[in-house]
Amino acid sequence: MDNKKSDIGLIGLAVMGENLALNMESKNWQVSVYNRTVIGVEEGVVDRFVNGRAKGKNVQGFTEIKDFVESLAAPRKIMMMVRAGSAVDELMDQLFPLLSAGDILIDGGNSNYEDTNRRVELSESKGFLFVGSGVSGGEEGALNGASIMPGGSANAWSQVKPILQSIAAKTSDGTPCCEWVGPAGSGHFVKMIHNGIEYGDMQLIAEAYWMMKNLLSVDHEEIASIFAGWNEGKLRSYLIEITANILKHKDKSGDYLVDKILDAAGQKGTGKWSVINAMELGMPLGLIATAVFERSLSSQKALRETASHSYKHGHLQAVYNKPELVKDVHSALYASKLVSYAQGFAVLQKASDAFGWNLNLSSIARMWRGGCIIRSVFLNDIAAAFEAKEKPEHLLLAPYFKEEMRQLLPGWKNLVAAAVREELPVPAFSSALNYFYSLVSEKLPANMVQAQRDYFGAHTFERTDNLRGVFFHENWTGHGGDTKSGTYNV
Ligand code: 6PG
Repeated sequence: MDNKKSDIGLIGLAVMGENLALNMESKNWQVSVYNRTVIGVEEGVVDRFVNGRAKGKNVQGFTEIKDFVESLAAPRKIMMMVRAGSAVDELMDQLFPLLSAGDILIDGGNSNYEDTNRRVELSESKGFLFVGSGVSGGEEGALNGASIMPGGSANAWSQVKPILQSIAAKTSDGTPCCEWVGPAGSGHFVKMIHNGIEYGDMQLIAEAYWMMKNLLSVDHEEIASIFAGWNEGKLRSYLIEITANILKHKDKSGDYLVDKILDAAGQKGTGKWSVINAMELGMPLGLIATAVFERSLSSQKALRETASHSYKHGHLQAVYNKPELVKDVHSALYASKLVSYAQGFAVLQKASDAFGWNLNLSSIARMWRGGCIIRSVFLNDIAAAFEAKEKPEHLLLAPYFKEEMRQLLPGWKNLVAAAVREELPVPAFSSALNYFYSLVSEKLPANMVQAQRDYFGAHTFERTDNLRGVFFHENWTGHGGDTKSGTYNV
């Protein structure tokens, strides 16, 4: 290995870190890698990588963090691929004394955006730059092209852009799926919403599979070919594609593996964060919330077993008309996906306004067209809707999607009604449908909620026959006082 300084350093040789390092090297960047010594691992992690997958490549391995930092060309660019949370802070504490002014730290993990806000400020206060970057696409994406969502110290962008865009996935027109997102923790916020949408998509696909499995006399191969067919149309996406593959996959004993996988879903927290943050911003994100809660309920397997014995239920009509039901499932899936993306993008817009991030929603939609887990063709339509001269107030009010929703509604309604009749759970399909009905209702029963709040707590209400922003309190019982509670909203 020559003594030329490396273009970039990467810390953390778990699978994502290894693959990103190899991806960078394949784009002709010289890469230094460092991993802390793992107790109990005989051959060091670094040695194993440098003498294994990185053998003969332009990768230098280091087991001392100081040597690693010194091996990098100025301004140093160090990508951290370590577990989100305190490990990032501990690593930064080790790095700070070794860095020079203008050096750039990049956090490519699934960090909480509030941590990233804090880390950008801290790094800048010390004269360094900090980039919090979402990286999506799993192992495969890390190696062959991921969707990369960087945000933080704006001055870092021109320095890291050539490297990050080179390792990003490219769409069919050659556009890299990596653009500057905005200041502070905005890159990680966008990645968090990406993951939330991922939760929603996965739950919706699971419900589509479940409806077909339970209401049609079809085998796995046939359901797989239905998904494969959808993958040629408007639902074309990575998650639909892998669902078809999963359905066909057999284990060593020749059985369909999916049937043997325990129905208890795990989660690492980004879906939950999406919902918490939407709530903090006062924004509806019901579909993702439903997907998160459904994973929680699925993991209460023992309770569900007990409950299933206490409340026996079954299907009324064993077999449905196949082409009709498949069409309705398609409508429900596509329409619910549109609701979910509309909700997710609305949260992004709200966060952008609240935090002054100036997010570009069409750029985000374009970045998600390749490399990431939720990549799909219909993100082109979403990007186009946000690029239109007249910005839609809500994605579902964009002319193209208005027409799509109009066409999808009958099948979507049918499907949810059939599921309810058959006592099959479709929480995400119906959450989306109810959101849609609420959205398009000029009037909602929230007048009753306001009346109740005022009745028991003098929380006041606005009147339909007066101006917005003027609040009233009624002495409902004749013996309440005139004292009002504050009218603030959270
Ligand atoms: C990605 C994924 C990834 C995520 C996993 C696991 O974009 O590549 O979102 O970042 O960590 O999919 O997520 P859960 O364990 O929460 O399902």
